Amino acid sequence: MAALSLRKIEKTYPNGFKAVHGVDLEVRDGEFMVFVGPSGCAKSTLLRMIAGLERITGGDLHIGGQRVNDLPPKQRGIAMVFQNYALYPHMKVAENLSFGLKLAGTPKAEVQQRVQEAARLLEMEHLLDRYPKQLSGGQAQRVAVGRAIVKKPGVFLFDEPLSNLDAKLRASMRVRLTDLHRTLREQGRGATAVYVTHDQVEAMTMGERICVLKDGVIQQVDTPTALYDRPANAFVAGFIGSPEMNIHAADVSGQGDVIGVRLRPTDGELPGPWLPLPDATAAALPERAGAPQTVRFGLRPEHIGLRARADGRSFAVAARLRSVEHMGNEVFVHLLLGSLPVTARVPAEDLPLLGSAERGAACTAHLQMTACHLFDADSGVRLC
Ligand SMILES: Nc1ncnc2c1ncn2[C@@H]1O[C@H](COP(=O)(O)OP(=O)(O)OP(=O)(O)O)[C@@H](O)[C@H]1O
Ligand SMILES: [Mg+2]
Repeated sequence: MAALSLRKIEKTYPNGFKAVHGVDLEVRDGEFMVFVGPSGCAKSTLLRMIAGLERITGGDLHIGGQRVNDLPPKQRGIAMVFQNYALYPHMKVAENLSFGLKLAGTPKAEVQQRVQEAARLLEMEHLLDRYPKQLSGGQAQRVAVGRAIVKKPGVFLFDEPLSNLDAKLRASMRVRLTDLHRTLREQGRGATAVYVTHDQVEAMTMGERICVLKDGVIQQVDTPTALYDRPANAFVAGFIGSPEMNIHAADVSGQGDVIGVRLRPTDGELPGPWLPLPDATAAALPERAGAPQTVRFGLRPEHIGLRARADGRSFAVAARLRSVEHMGNEVFVHLLLGSLPVTARVPAEDLPLLGSAERGAACTAHLQMTACHLFDADSGVRLC
């Protein structure tokens, strides 16, 4: 049993800076939870408080049902993997793996068995006899993970463990780590994992659930799909997804019976197009009698295309071309609607539909309005 429970957790640093503001979070036993958010949002602070490396200044932390606020790190049943590996340079890999266990007085035969098992799980049996300086970055990171595994912790804590690796290696280590977590769980010795990253791709691909943080406050906790499809606010909408969701201020207005939005131009510039809202979305708009209503309108790049949708569920607007980014199988097309920049993500074979690839060339953008998101203009909270 190693569920984690954070209740009204706060952190005020000795200099008076309040980094964490009343965080409530339940991480289930065996779950892989990712903390993600921009630099400085307090991911590491939270993780270090769970580990016992940083004092908790408010609230309660429970691990496996036990309140651990005042327990030293060693007694919390956790193992932590850091960004910089932190291997002992003068010890061979095998000794790096076994050192902590020996210190804790684990019987020799068991140490041997756990080291062999970790080496097998991480496919590094051939590295046991090497010194850390004889390892590649990816191999060193595997040893760091192995050192956590041999401890058989109830909770694994990872703080940006892959950020020192190049992109290709990072991608393969991502798969290796999530695989490992599932393997251990299937073998009935699963551990809860909390994984910190500022990389939303890593968060989306690894997390069973993701906790999005900003300025020491949780913005949303949910599965990757739910975060992507129903972001709780404009911050989460903009943070999750690449290229970013197109988000612009817009004024609600009707044309005939249809409620729509007009994208609001920046001062003195060309107004954006008027876009009809789907009935269900329009119905979800809060009543605001009298005053014209302003919202933030969001549409993901994959919901803007260069051809009309076969199902008729797209709305055509005039656009001008800014630039094109080739990604191989798909293309990011940067457009202007009036004066407002938007990015479309289209299959490469649609590119000829642009006609001219000249900057400023006129073209037509097809917006899938049923996929749009509306957020409150002030608070950024999701409206529909
Ligand atoms: N010892 C400290 N004293 C005062 N403020 C601190 C201390 N350590 C961190 N902070 C502040 O607390 C906030 C959260 O820092 P933290 O390191 O947890 O962020 P992070 O989300 O891990 O960022 P990064 O992605 O850059 O690692 C930051 O504003 C940071 O400046
Ligand atoms: Mg950090």
